[in-house]
Amino acid sequence: MSIASHESEHVDAHTGTSTTGHEWDGIRELNTPLPRWWLWMLYGSIVWAIGYMIVYPAVPLVSSYTKGVFGWSARGAVTAELADLQSARAPMVNALAAASFADIEKDPKMLAFARAQGKAAFGDNCAGCHGAGGGGSKAFPNLVDDDWLWGGKLEDIQQTLTHGIRSADPQARAGNMPVFGEGVLKPTEISLVADYVRSLSGLDVAKGVDLAAGGKIFAENCAACHGDNAKGNLELGSPNLTDEIWLYGSDKATIVEGINKGRGGVMPNWGERLDAGTIKALAVYVRTLGGGR
Ligand code: HEC
Ligand code: HEC
Repeated sequence: MSIASHESEHVDAHTGTSTTGHEWDGIRELNTPLPRWWLWMLYGSIVWAIGYMIVYPAVPLVSSYTKGVFGWSARGAVTAELADLQSARAPMVNALAAASFADIEKDPKMLAFARAQGKAAFGDNCAGCHGAGGGGSKAFPNLVDDDWLWGGKLEDIQQTLTHGIRSADPQARAGNMPVFGEGVLKPTEISLVADYVRSLSGLDVAKGVDLAAGGKIFAENCAACHGDNAKGNLELGSPNLTDEIWLYGSDKATIVEGINKGRGGVMPNWGERLDAGTIKALAVYVRTLGGGR
């Protein structure tokens, strides 16, 4: 306690504050006390922290944590919020499930609700195959255009969604594009009819191809499903071949492949997974995207 105790008695003449006893080349360090307001804040936060630890979950233990006297948890808070949301929505959801499409379309509030619900359900269940905006891709139909394989009225879409397409559901939309390879048609005939199909939507066909012969093969083998004018049949899910919209592709190789091996895209039946109200909302949303032929 030599220099320090001796020096600590020193009081700075200018400020009236005692010094710490540290001195460098004649400059002494003032022992200024912490400001009172700062100290109170420090004590205040200590008290707050102790209170917080008692009331809220705070201290990690070996396999759990202190739960706090309020029993609050982030997960519990979210669950409660979701339950609130669901009970707030319940009257609308039930009304939607009970309403006919005509009722829904007449009621702007319900229509807006159905579109919003449908949009959310589409993102969760459908976007993976049909694309985020319903734009589709090869083998997964575009739902934004007003071109339908199975019909674009609300009831048609509802039926498609509930039972699926070529799904395990006995009421599913069914019927395939048959296999014409394996001896049903000769490769030259398949090539001819493929060229004829391309010509229907104005695509280039090599010079000298006998389109009349292709047309005859079409009338004999294809018109039963695709129609005499090749405009398709919503009952059978056979696409319109004249509209420049292609599910699988318009290049000759893709068309020949489809005729050779057949086609039959599968869409799951949603009736088992989604409730009737959600399916209605989805139908309304899908129809809003493009439609309702
Ligand atoms: C596993 C992929 C997949 C999922 C998921 C899926 N779809 Fe599909 N969807 C398809 C395929 C494939 C087709 C076309 C089947 C065919 O070739 O006829 C289709 C057809 C449709 C059609 C008929 C279009 C028309 O032109 O008639 C509608 C409507 C539709 N889907 C809506 C939906 C909605 C709404 C959902 C979400 C609830 C959904 N899809 C989820 C694969 C899927
Ligand atoms: C039994 C009914 C049936 C017959 C007969 C039939 N089709 Fe199809 N065709 C379909 C169906 C259904 C689809 C849609 C398949 C799907 O959605 O996966 C289809 C799809 C197609 C496609 C694909 C269209 C696209 O947008 O990608 C072409 C091309 C086609 N058929 C041409 C023909 C030709 C050519 C013949 C005659 C040689 C023929 N079809 C005979 C039912 C039929």
